[in-house]
Amino acid sequence: MSADVQAQAAAASDTMLPYRVVRRTAPTHDTVTLTLEPVRRAAGRFRAGQFMMLYSFGVGEIAISISGDPTGRGDVLEHTIRKVGAVSGALSSTGVGGLVGVRGPFGTGWDVESAAGGDLVVVGGGVGLAPLRPLVLAALADRGSYRRVVVITGARTPADLLFAGDQESWVRDGSVELHRTVDHPSPQWPGRVGFVTEPLAQLHLDPARTTGFLCGPEPMMRFCAQALLRKNVPGDRIRVSLERTMECGVARCGHCQLGPLLLCRDGPIVTYTVAEPLLGVREL
Ligand SMILES: Cc1cc2nc3c(=O)[nH]c(=O)nc-3n(C[C@H](O)[C@H](O)[C@H](O)COP(=O)(O)OP(=O)(O)OC[C@H]3O[C@@H](n4cnc5c(N)ncnc54)[C@H](O)[C@@H]3O)c2cc1C
Ligand code: FES
Repeated sequence: MSADVQAQAAAASDTMLPYRVVRRTAPTHDTVTLTLEPVRRAAGRFRAGQFMMLYSFGVGEIAISISGDPTGRGDVLEHTIRKVGAVSGALSSTGVGGLVGVRGPFGTGWDVESAAGGDLVVVGGGVGLAPLRPLVLAALADRGSYRRVVVITGARTPADLLFAGDQESWVRDGSVELHRTVDHPSPQWPGRVGFVTEPLAQLHLDPARTTGFLCGPEPMMRFCAQALLRKNVPGDRIRVSLERTMECGVARCGHCQLGPLLLCRDGPIVTYTVAEPLLGVREL
């Protein structure tokens, strides 16, 4: 992209647009999914893995990944927000009919299309599944272009597993190999107990044709990336999402700097080859 085009893209993304909440659901006890429609003008079309800056009027603005379908209506946005502080709490409490300010879309995407013809291994921990959902939906919309689609999800308890309905439908129609695991099972939990690295370690992969997509707490991503490296999946075909506090979203303020990267522009999704030295990984 030329400097001019980059500047134009940055200027367009920098405009805050009012969006109205048209649907509000609570996938788990501490998360809310908001469906947003533009009041007047819509933000540009997004790619799986990108994020928006969401502004709760009078409270503040935070980066939130897009959890909706990139192949659906381009003007509708879906965001899944975990209530941890003032801004995420205020956004989560916005009811149907309420307004939210939106800037974006920002950042790099998962670039799932570049894995066409191969196998996808998608690993999400906790709310880390939110930015991975658009990737899975994009792959399923073009299912014939991929061989295996393996999804591994982990959460603290069964009640914390995000997008449970989606996951069940992916398994029902046979389009996804799903492995779900929790740290603390309920008595009724029929599935695995333990970390996402365990089902990952048991997979038989064709390393030359596998691409890994990892999102969750950084230690989880490090351990999963190392498990894939041990299976000979190259580091430049392992993608991780790195989150740092975002302020401007357009590579101006420096808040999101990690080493030489400004993660609002150069991330949040980078290859593990790029991420590894920045995360200070030690060999296990
Ligand atoms: C690229 C990017 C994408 C993101 N996507 C999402 C998303 O899809 N959904 C989402 O819920 N959040 C997402 N976040 C995190 C989000 O931007 C905020 O950092 C988070 O919601 C906290 O904001 P706050 O102002 O409400 O809380 P703060 O006032 O900043 O924090 C309150 C307390 O919560 C702790 N805290 C802050 N962030 C987190 C966290 N992520 N998990 C646990 N504790 C935390 C803080 O240490 C502090 O103790 C994303 C961040 C980035 C950089
Ligand atoms: S958030 Fe300002 S430079 Fe990235």
